[in-house]
Amino acid sequence: MDKITEVQNQALEAIAAAADLDALQQARIRYLGKKGDIQALMSEMKSLPKEEKPAFGQKVNVCKQVVSEALEKRQAELQEEALAARLVEEKIDITLPGTKHTLGTMHPLFMIQQEIEDLFIGMGYKVAEGPEVELDHYNFELANIPKDHPARDMQDTFYVDPNTLLRTHTTAMQMRELEKAEGKTPIKLICPGKVYRRDDDDATHSHQFMQCEGLVVGEHITLADLKGTLEHMANTMFGNGRQIRFRPSYFPFTEPSVEVDVSCPFCNGKGCSVCKGSGWIEILGAGMVHPHVLEMNGFDSEKCTGFAFGIGLERIAMLKYGIDDIRNFYINDVRFLKNFDRFD
Ligand code: DAH
Repeated sequence: MDKITEVQNQALEAIAAAADLDALQQARIRYLGKKGDIQALMSEMKSLPKEEKPAFGQKVNVCKQVVSEALEKRQAELQEEALAARLVEEKIDITLPGTKHTLGTMHPLFMIQQEIEDLFIGMGYKVAEGPEVELDHYNFELANIPKDHPARDMQDTFYVDPNTLLRTHTTAMQMRELEKAEGKTPIKLICPGKVYRRDDDDATHSHQFMQCEGLVVGEHITLADLKGTLEHMANTMFGNGRQIRFRPSYFPFTEPSVEVDVSCPFCNGKGCSVCKGSGWIEILGAGMVHPHVLEMNGFDSEKCTGFAFGIGLERIAMLKYGIDDIRNFYINDVRFLKNFDRFD
């Protein structure tokens, strides 16, 4: 009988000392398991004299019950402790600053391209696209620049082979579109895209840059139409009140050819450091499509005329955003690009 009391005390002690659920499980096996101490007491009953058996059996049963209850109680305590510990551990600090997901920004040249596209689409132009690896035929021949023409020297060209090159101007696309139209008018399109020249890169030159070509062909198209169109563009891009000025120039694919200046948007034409005191800033080349170019592409130059222009997009972006080095557009420095983040 003493032994029962001893086993019971040991069991209760072990249960109270169990620091976690694993330790408690060990105590359960040790005392209440099939090969445990309490079961061993039961087996001892066989060897007792008959009259002692009831009292012994009863005491073992009480012991078993007391130990079971203690186990259950401790188990509930430990489970609660474990839960409380987990809650502390997994607590979310809602005062911590969140993770910022930075968004990419629109490239300034792409913004200018979109602005120009919107502007011309609004006037009924279509937007054409074409290859950057181009045939000599479209880049030069159809643009009235035959093999021995001195104008080829004006544009240092990256050749892939004697007949293939990286286009030096989007005028190549003008020729593709003229050819495709098979003499039918009207044509009203712009073609934005990358062009390449063998220039040494510096603050104002880049071997890769962007142009946007414009072309309108139809009946009674005149230089005045070109002027009105470019004036509208200048007012949209640089703010109202801009004026346009034509200066005579030369391009093999236009006759007459002009260089186009816009009245300086920084000083309103009074003269400042940006326009070098002149009040005017050159923004593009343009002209009336050369009759020979029209004829080469299957148009009757007696019946139809056309104007064309080519804008350098970097130049427009540099003026508009006050950027002083063209290389900024191509070195992908996020500190530069971040200036054009419309969401910050
Ligand atoms: N292709 C010329 C250049 O790259 C720009 C140009 C001038 C385009 C006159 C034209 C134009 O369409 O009519 O410098």
